[in-house]
Amino acid sequence: MKNKINSPYILAFLGIILSSCTNVDEILTISSPNNKNQLTFRLTESGEPQYELTSSKKPIIAPSKMGFEFVENQKMTDGFKIINSEIDSLNTTWEQPWGEFKIIKDQHTKLTVHLQETSGEKRLVDIIFKVFNDGLGFRYYFPEQPNLKEVKISNELTEFTFPEEHNVWWIPVHSDNSYYESLYKKSPISKTDTINTPATFETKDGMYLAIHEANLTDFASMTLRYTKKNKFQSELVPWADGVKVYTKTPFETPWRTIIIAENPGELVTSTLMLNLNEPSKIEDLSWIEPSKYIGIWWGMHLEKYTWGSGEKHGATTQNTKEYIDFAAENGFDGVLVEGWNIGWDGDWTADGTSFSFTQPYPDFDIEEISRYATKKGVRLIGHHETAGAASHYENQLEAAFELYNKKGVNAVKTGYVNKYLDKKEWHDSQFGVRHYRKVIETAAKYHIMIDNHEPVKGTGLQRTYPNLMTQEGARGQEYNAWSNDGGNPPEHTTILPFTRMLSGPMDFTPGNFGFDYKSVQGAKVQTTLAKQLALYVVLFSPLQMASDLPENYVGQPAFKFIKDVPSIWSETKVLDSKIGEYVVIARKDWEEKNWYLGAITNSEGRNLEISFSFLDPTKKYTAEIYTDGKEANYKSNPYPVAILKQSIDSDSKLTLKLAPGGGTAIKVSLVE
Ligand code: NOJ
Repeated sequence: MKNKINSPYILAFLGIILSSCTNVDEILTISSPNNKNQLTFRLTESGEPQYELTSSKKPIIAPSKMGFEFVENQKMTDGFKIINSEIDSLNTTWEQPWGEFKIIKDQHTKLTVHLQETSGEKRLVDIIFKVFNDGLGFRYYFPEQPNLKEVKISNELTEFTFPEEHNVWWIPVHSDNSYYESLYKKSPISKTDTINTPATFETKDGMYLAIHEANLTDFASMTLRYTKKNKFQSELVPWADGVKVYTKTPFETPWRTIIIAENPGELVTSTLMLNLNEPSKIEDLSWIEPSKYIGIWWGMHLEKYTWGSGEKHGATTQNTKEYIDFAAENGFDGVLVEGWNIGWDGDWTADGTSFSFTQPYPDFDIEEISRYATKKGVRLIGHHETAGAASHYENQLEAAFELYNKKGVNAVKTGYVNKYLDKKEWHDSQFGVRHYRKVIETAAKYHIMIDNHEPVKGTGLQRTYPNLMTQEGARGQEYNAWSNDGGNPPEHTTILPFTRMLSGPMDFTPGNFGFDYKSVQGAKVQTTLAKQLALYVVLFSPLQMASDLPENYVGQPAFKFIKDVPSIWSETKVLDSKIGEYVVIARKDWEEKNWYLGAITNSEGRNLEISFSFLDPTKKYTAEIYTDGKEANYKSNPYPVAILKQSIDSDSKLTLKLAPGGGTAIKVSLVE
């Protein structure tokens, strides 16, 4: 009966009637604005809250339990009654200061269910659901109440029960490392253990689902533990003492999110996570400047330079000036300088408490360098590697940002290379979540943008703090310098857009042009040069690096694409994709004029037919095409790039010929 009626309000009303008639269950149902996705909430006979989700009447999440266990309080999992419920809907748009879209539509139906225990302490909890056309978000809210004040959460019991066994792309929690730098595996869900989110599922009938969370604020990250047949349960990351979350009422949890997509591209263009975050808390956004940068960086990873002092010290005044010159000549806004400060000598990864964030090495004349950078119209990008010594860093935070602010630095890359923070807490614990937030907020005070490496996963906070520009949180280009397994395999970047990138921008640091370096571990960049160009379109980052040594760009015609390509987009379209095989993305620049297209493939060469029907049919365009040249392949011949120019319009079709491990990058300029 419920499915035949369209209005969510009527459905909810009927649900309540139904429950009061039968006196068995209490059921509430709402649908997405397009009526496709339907959320049902019910209390079972024992007063256990459960939710269920369908899309086009197909089961997405089978009835799944909800609830919490506490260290010192009785668990809250059953014995509830619905004391009240409200339904609301919203249909609005909002504008981003930067992103993959300029305008975002927030259109959803909201159900708030107020629950109370029927006996005992009669405690209260609300569960809030928002159903969008692209999926579901829900969170718990615990109001202030006499019998629940100080709270130590020992377990969240939210379940995600699938109707059948799907395949999932996943990375493990903490076993390889504690900051998400694993290669994604694809397996049936029964072959997983505890996995990180975003976790991306493929159903047998070709739908795609992604479970994640939004607005992770003063809470532990949610991971997913496979419990039994087709079922995952939320597994919160604990503090060192085993408690998951310390809090007190009133408090709310982050949103638990499920994107529902008909094809992989719809995962990429989902705006669910951003819609479930709060609007910007920073009023004056004039100092936030998406841009491209180069840096004294790859040289360290290749062991050409050292971070620490000595003969090969990379961050010298002279070297930095040369990088500034190169940036100025080639239109880059920023120069990242790692290893500028005291603390890198010795095994810095083991203990970060020697780092000073205000004292430069003697051969790095910060006064002179900032004067020189200003003269050349280039910004220094600061660097704070903490090696996980979070409290040590917090003690210097204000002074460190103040110094940078005085020197004209408006972006800082932070880093946390250590299994733990403060030698015992996980990066994605409530401790870590609090620390990273403190850094973002303090940086905002000093008008500094953050590029966070070894982070806690993104959950859309860039909407609230648009100075959180980009993060690492996956295997980036650096693995191609020193990884023992040979570097990132060619399929890696064809999986990231549908997994890691669902959590927000990534500082992958593309742009490798020199393939002949020798690394001790034997790692290498496993792409063609043209694929490196395409990554600028495929992997979104509002601070985007050209990561190679400057000398590798000199005299290279393909470098023009890196100089031209923007780092933020007014519109994004996934033209074609198959997770782990290939992806083609088209993005329109922020000025809403030119388009850029990036196509990449795994180790298989392939031809992809592309239609330009997304272009304005009344306009003419010129395409500059950077494609894999003759006999290019990622294994033995990565260099050849063919650069062609041709006229194009919305009727045009092109066959992109991607080499094994290759790609194509296209700039489509409006003819005015
Ligand atoms: C790891 C970061 O990911 C990398 O980019 C940086 O160079 C090193 N840490 C040193 O801070």
